[in-house]
Amino acid sequence: MFLLAVSVPFTTLLFARGSFSLPSADDWAQLSKSLGGRLLQATPLAAPCFSVVNGRNSTVDTQACAAVQAGYTVPDFRSPRFPAYMLPQWETCQRAEEKCLLDASNPSNPLATSGVCQQGSISEYYVVVSGAEDVQTAFAFSAKTGVRLSIKASGHDYKGRSSSKGSLNLWTRNLTSLAYTPNFTPEGGDKSYERTITMGAGVPFEDLYAFADQNNLTVIGGYHQTISPSGGWVMGGGHSVLSPVYGLGVDRVLQFKIVTPDGEYRTANEFQNKDLFWALRGGGGSTFGVVIESTMLVEPRFKLQVASFNFAKTSTNYQPFLKLIVDESYTWGTEGWGGHMGPTNLINVNPLLTTEQAIESLKNATAYVQAQNGTIVIEELPSWQAFFTKYVTSAEASVGVENTLLSRLIPTNLFTSETGRTTLTNAMVQMVDQYGINPYIVVGTPFLFKGPANATSVTPAWRNALWQIGGHSTWQFNATVPEIRTQFQIASNITQLLRDITPGSGAYFNEGDVYEVNHEESYWGVNYPALLAIKKKYDPNSLLECWQCVGWKGAQDPRYDCYLSLSN
Ligand SMILES: Cc1cc2nc3c(=O)[nH]c(=O)nc-3n(C[C@H](O)[C@H](O)[C@H](O)COP(=O)(O)OP(=O)(O)OC[C@H]3O[C@@H](n4cnc5c(N)ncnc54)[C@H](O)[C@@H]3O)c2cc1C
Ligand SMILES: *[C@@H]1O[C@H](CO)[C@@H](O)[C@H](O)[C@H]1NC(C)=O
Ligand SMILES: *[C@@H]1O[C@H](CO)[C@@H](O)[C@H](O)[C@H]1NC(C)=O
Ligand SMILES: *[C@@H]1O[C@H](CO)[C@@H](O)[C@H](O)[C@H]1NC(C)=O
Ligand SMILES: *[C@@H]1O[C@H](CO)[C@@H](O)[C@H](O)[C@H]1NC(C)=O
Ligand SMILES: *[C@@H]1O[C@H](CO)[C@@H](O)[C@H](O)[C@H]1NC(C)=O
Ligand SMILES: *[C@@H]1O[C@H](CO)[C@@H](O)[C@H](O)[C@H]1NC(C)=O
Ligand SMILES: *[C@@H]1O[C@H](CO)[C@@H](O)[C@H](O)[C@H]1NC(C)=O
Ligand SMILES: *[C@@H]1O[C@H](CO)[C@@H](O)[C@H](O)[C@H]1NC(C)=O
Repeated sequence: MFLLAVSVPFTTLLFARGSFSLPSADDWAQLSKSLGGRLLQATPLAAPCFSVVNGRNSTVDTQACAAVQAGYTVPDFRSPRFPAYMLPQWETCQRAEEKCLLDASNPSNPLATSGVCQQGSISEYYVVVSGAEDVQTAFAFSAKTGVRLSIKASGHDYKGRSSSKGSLNLWTRNLTSLAYTPNFTPEGGDKSYERTITMGAGVPFEDLYAFADQNNLTVIGGYHQTISPSGGWVMGGGHSVLSPVYGLGVDRVLQFKIVTPDGEYRTANEFQNKDLFWALRGGGGSTFGVVIESTMLVEPRFKLQVASFNFAKTSTNYQPFLKLIVDESYTWGTEGWGGHMGPTNLINVNPLLTTEQAIESLKNATAYVQAQNGTIVIEELPSWQAFFTKYVTSAEASVGVENTLLSRLIPTNLFTSETGRTTLTNAMVQMVDQYGINPYIVVGTPFLFKGPANATSVTPAWRNALWQIGGHSTWQFNATVPEIRTQFQIASNITQLLRDITPGSGAYFNEGDVYEVNHEESYWGVNYPALLAIKKKYDPNSLLECWQCVGWKGAQDPRYDCYLSLSN
């Protein structure tokens, strides 16, 4: 990272490729000056490992390269580094095959570094946002010069919405304030909430969880340590394995402080900028402005029951398990279970039952897994923090691996009839048998949680669903464009398979198929027209745009030149 004032030739080189309007060298210098050193330049994470970087000879930095190799799949290594994204394909320009990747399965594989390192989709320039003024400056700069903007918090996005080739990126990761406020009154309101935490937009879940725990509190949050709770997670919905009882992130957020693209620094809550508040509760990140901080409702510390089951897969033992979990899930839902399940495993939590009740509730599953000589743990843990530390960070979803996800919300009514259950079981077995993809079952819908009507803008399908089903397709650092396209096609085909058995339902914006068909309907349903009107009100000049976001104008926009076309 270095200041741009020293690198005008670099600027010229990098921006010469784009077909969008370009700030002049003077514009950049001016911006750098007004941002007081918080405008930085980026090169790809693995650049120290390559001898050719962005078309120039470069000296391999053995020590820096070794550090990148060691941290390549480690969330806490990627999280504080601007050019690193959790899904590294979004560091690349997929269509132009410009990239700078290591082999995630063997980061010191020399095959990866024998080629050239290219900038890909990583912004050459980014702002380390320190507060609302920096964002106001950036919006004014974009309006003046036409440079595209993008926003990054943690880089967890599954659809590449936090990177954009040639954009000026606003990186919120350094907004790390955390405060516990008992009896919080939203600004301008006359109602108070007993326990809340206000956090900067860059705080990762692991810091929030630790802070809450120190204050004897429980956060209802996501299943990965480096996601930004105030960023895309909450604005897109925000599920937790505790959501069945306590609601989604959008159900629990009480206030946003946000700079809207018209340059205003606004407070949005149930008393002021109500339309914006509603839109931010499900309408998605990088659409309505740049969030500086948010306030969420938290709970006292509570203990929870944890069930962790696994068994070795054979060609005949996963179908009956899938049938079993489908058969039991409605009852489990009424009992308050949340969690993640697959063809040979479950990791479920319950804040309502005693250990004895948990054992009784899981009797049939226990018997089945026992018969497979699997591992069974049912235990009570004293806090969310104890659960998260023991089960999540130790077995975290790997990052740094190219992969894509898909999503379908599975309505409760499929679970309440024999035909529905058979249909659902068969669809999941087909995922495994035909595509080799394990269903990733998220029991994270607000099944027992009842909020006020129309308080959030996520698709109402969330409120009628018991599960979300996902599934990961993956590829390697050196996959060819046709190979990558095939993986995206598999995700789309599986989504269609699930869509066919769930007519009228929807999908999770943050985890949906990159090529979601009819995405406006899937992600927002009846809420879309109101969201679009609010988008136009606060961002009349469309300074913020992203893939399949509210107001999306389609894949043909040059902004999306790095996305593959699914058909070819
Ligand atoms: C390993 C892994 C585990 C996950 N687990 C869960 C889970 O348990 N529950 C769940 O609900 N989801 C989960 N997700 C999905 C997650 O919610 C999304 O990836 C989400 O977009 C992450 O938000 P972020 O801000 O951290 O990521 P980023 O990639 O930084 O940003 C995501 C989107 O939000 C925008 N954005 C970020 N910050 C701001 C801001 N301050 N203002 C305006 N826009 C902003 C970005 O531009 C982008 O559009 C997981 C993802 C991964 C990769
Ligand atoms: C880059 O390195 C190659 C081979 O090592 C060399 O032939 C070439 O002249 C170098 N280019 C520049 C601009 O230094
Ligand atoms: C992040 O913020 C801290 C102060 O909170 C500051 O000292 C640091 O320099 C900032 N980081 C960058 C990269 O600007
Ligand atoms: C948390 O709870 C423990 C045990 O009840 C108590 O001793 C401690 O003072 C509490 N801490 C805070 C910050 O409230
Ligand atoms: C829900 O609330 C939003 C924001 O106030 C509003 O624009 C929209 O029309 C409402 N939708 C319904 C169905 O009432
Ligand atoms: C276990 O399965 C039996 C037979 O399918 C069913 O009747 C019973 O309700 C199940 N028990 C539990 C605890 O779900
Ligand atoms: C489980 O282990 C027992 C004893 O080792 C063995 O007899 C049985 O075949 C095993 N069952 C399965 C499904 O692996
Ligand atoms: C990618 O690299 C691996 C070795 O790491 C190799 O086996 C594979 O064939 C390569 N794939 C392509 C498409 O080059
Ligand atoms: C996806 O489905 C289409 C239509 O059925 C089929 O032609 C195509 O081969 C499938 N693609 C993959 C990768 O399975």
